[in-house]
Amino acid sequence: MIIDFDIISKVYDSIREADTNIVNLLVNRIKTDGATNILDFGCGTGNYIKSLRKSSDLFSIYGVDPSKGMRKIAIRKNKGVQIKDGNHIKIPFSNSFFDFIYMTDVIHLVGDINVLFLEISRVLKVKGVLAVLTLSYDQIERKYFAKYFPSSIIINKKRYPSIEIIKNSAQNCNINVIRIEICNENTKIDVNCKLFDSLHKKGYSILRLIPEDEYKSGLQQLERDLSSKNHVLNSGKTLIWFQKSSE
Ligand SMILES: C[S@@+](CC[C@H](N)C(=O)[O-])C[C@H]1O[C@@H](n2cnc3c(N)ncnc32)[C@H](O)[C@@H]1O
Repeated sequence: MIIDFDIISKVYDSIREADTNIVNLLVNRIKTDGATNILDFGCGTGNYIKSLRKSSDLFSIYGVDPSKGMRKIAIRKNKGVQIKDGNHIKIPFSNSFFDFIYMTDVIHLVGDINVLFLEISRVLKVKGVLAVLTLSYDQIERKYFAKYFPSSIIINKKRYPSIEIIKNSAQNCNINVIRIEICNENTKIDVNCKLFDSLHKKGYSILRLIPEDEYKSGLQQLERDLSSKNHVLNSGKTLIWFQKSSE
């Protein structure tokens, strides 16, 4: 089943935001490298673009996303930023245009990551840096809602490429891993209206992929269990840093 982000765009922006830790990691690297042309690939509603722009005006950020609905909101929130229609097959920029490319929560939606890395390699400069934020299989299994929606584990493992597959696919395009960071593991996620809202509005695409009866019964049980808690533990995300070695 293909996820329709034009439909998700109607709720996404009210329930998802840029993660401050990830923003800081990206900004530090951009500043250390003196990168000027930055691409947010699969920028969605532009949350990360907005946060990164707040931190400095020394670099220019561009966005690409295939969903018209998501782009419309990203453009509204980021006046003056070029946010274009594009995907893993076609990134509408010239060869070697970018010093730095990042993608947050996108790689599992891209059909063919070999095609993705070829296209990323085309638009990334030699010595340019790529950051990919994703979930490892261990993080998928430990997600706080996984036990309530058991099919989410099987479905996510099918759609998320493993860290090893991502590394190998990138390497075939001269994009080599320089570091792997585990982010936000065991940090606290507050149990509040926003969390319930995200679950109710299916703000996570996986909730639109599991059987509806499992979603409904899992949600009821999850709400009962969460009502007595202040927080749940984050299973974390994996941030893979790459650098392009040559053409
Ligand atoms: C979960 S959202 C993440 C949005 C944003 N990166 C963020 O972290 O807030 C996934 C985004 O990936 C986009 N997407 C889906 N397939 C894509 C593809 N083949 N190439 C680029 N982006 C894609 C969707 O349109 C959606 O906006």
